Amino acid sequence: HPLSMRLLRERHAALRTRTTTGNEDTNGRQRALGKRTARERLELLLDDGSFLEIDRYRRHQAAGPKLDDQRPHTDGVVVGSGLLDGRQVFVYAQDFTIFGGSLGAAHAAKIHKVMDLALATGSPIIGLNDSGGARIQEGVMSLDGYGGIFRRHVEASGVIPQISVVLGPCAGGAAYSPALADFTFIVRDTSKMYLTGPDVVEAVSGERVSHEELGGADVHGGVSGVATFVYDDEVTCLEEVRQLVSLLPSNNLESPPAKAARGAVGDVRPRLAEIVPVAPNQPYDMRLVVAELVDDGEFLELHEGWAANVVCALARIDGQVTGLVGNQPIVLAGVLDVPAAQKAARFVRFCDAFGIPLVTLVDVPGFLPGTEQERAGIIRHGAKLLYAYCEATVPRVQVIVRKAYGGAYIVMDSRSIGTDLSLAWPTNEIAVMGAEGAVNVLFRKELAAAADPAGLRAELIADYVARFVHPYYAAERGLVDDVIDPVHTRAVVARSLSMLREKRKQRPRRKHGNMPQ
Ligand code: COA
Repeated sequence: HPLSMRLLRERHAALRTRTTTGNEDTNGRQRALGKRTARERLELLLDDGSFLEIDRYRRHQAAGPKLDDQRPHTDGVVVGSGLLDGRQVFVYAQDFTIFGGSLGAAHAAKIHKVMDLALATGSPIIGLNDSGGARIQEGVMSLDGYGGIFRRHVEASGVIPQISVVLGPCAGGAAYSPALADFTFIVRDTSKMYLTGPDVVEAVSGERVSHEELGGADVHGGVSGVATFVYDDEVTCLEEVRQLVSLLPSNNLESPPAKAARGAVGDVRPRLAEIVPVAPNQPYDMRLVVAELVDDGEFLELHEGWAANVVCALARIDGQVTGLVGNQPIVLAGVLDVPAAQKAARFVRFCDAFGIPLVTLVDVPGFLPGTEQERAGIIRHGAKLLYAYCEATVPRVQVIVRKAYGGAYIVMDSRSIGTDLSLAWPTNEIAVMGAEGAVNVLFRKELAAAADPAGLRAELIADYVARFVHPYYAAERGLVDDVIDPVHTRAVVARSLSMLREKRKQRPRRKHGNMPQ
């Protein structure tokens, strides 16, 4: 009937305006903060015109102050599906202009609905968070709503990629959503994430702290490790979400999105022989090695500002999506410490869950020694990384670029914990420890009694170096599969990954393992 069609059109138009240009007061305030509305954000995120909204009429059925006389449609969250480079994703975008984006029962039910659809259809879920947290007036119903979101995150973990984008406040229980997601994006100045805000902190402990100092982008991107990616503005942030999704499969049954092969198997990269200094303690940037190995030198680095002593990146090698883990000699000499082990462990588990092969670039002096690390539980955190590699069934290639000592050698995807192929550059050293340390331990008594300790030490070191400080000791024993010319590394890695592509490995049946905490 023409009248009902007109009514429908008017209603849709009114709903669109409510959260785009309407209500100049609240929207204006958001805009002044550099924020966009929920719908504008979805437009930036998704392919043009692809958003299909669900539940646009939903409104709360609750009662309470400020709720009795206001029942806006959407209930402060815009949800639905859309396309990203033509591939389906499900999305929700919280709208701070409606009840501060706070989450009540209806708001939560809408998020539950798209999370369920994402899991049922095997599509990534992307949440744009901008919320004052649990809707105070709806009390325990809000908390119940959050619980439902968290339970769904866990159910979907390892089945579909889950991305959380924090574009405003994300306080209290709400912060567990980004924590449970696979990747968390955050924007400087506008995003704030904490379990208890500055007011509560001051009331409880007397500590005065700003929103930014407590839970701003740089805190989570550089100190706590909660945020995987940090950006200066929303537009770049949403653009990078698109970039990330282009590297991920839609679910754990699908292969990662490959592009045409690039002929990498014949590539020679002379730069690789120049980047890494021969002297074992001389620093260099491992990202330069990564750039030489991957297609077009392009890679997406995770946690750039946190635990930078290990590099984790997604890229393509010969068109195939690959996860790269590398020690980073320019930060803390590339040692493994608590945050580095946590960061690499989670990345390895993500790649394993989604069938993304792993290339591990090793140049590690060991674990960071000291009381601080031991007390922080480096043993159990290091064990996490060990655990993650041991359980990974995706194709795994280890490249020992320079040095690999002690427990850190074992943990960085050594043959003993199940790498499929171990390749070594000719200059490298794989040993329990460096020559000097080894000689001091083994020959302490002889050195103390020697007439010329310095001369004897030099002699013993030279002997140790000749015997152990080269990859052939390991290669002769099958712990290294081949010693390769650095300039051929991209070619050999590409061939190895191609050889391993159909790898299938079953683990024994069990409910689940018990990863170190
Ligand atoms: N429940 C209900 N309404 C909420 C809310 C919540 N959790 N958080 C914000 N709002 C409402 C505000 O009452 C305000 O409504 P009004 O426009 O009718 O006055 C509107 O949302 C905007 O909030 P405001 O406080 O003016 O915005 P701000 O940018 O100054 O501050 C916060 C944002 C998130 C820091 C602040 O709103 C806040 O501290 N909220 C509570 C956070 C919290 O502790 N949540 C519970 C955690 S589980």
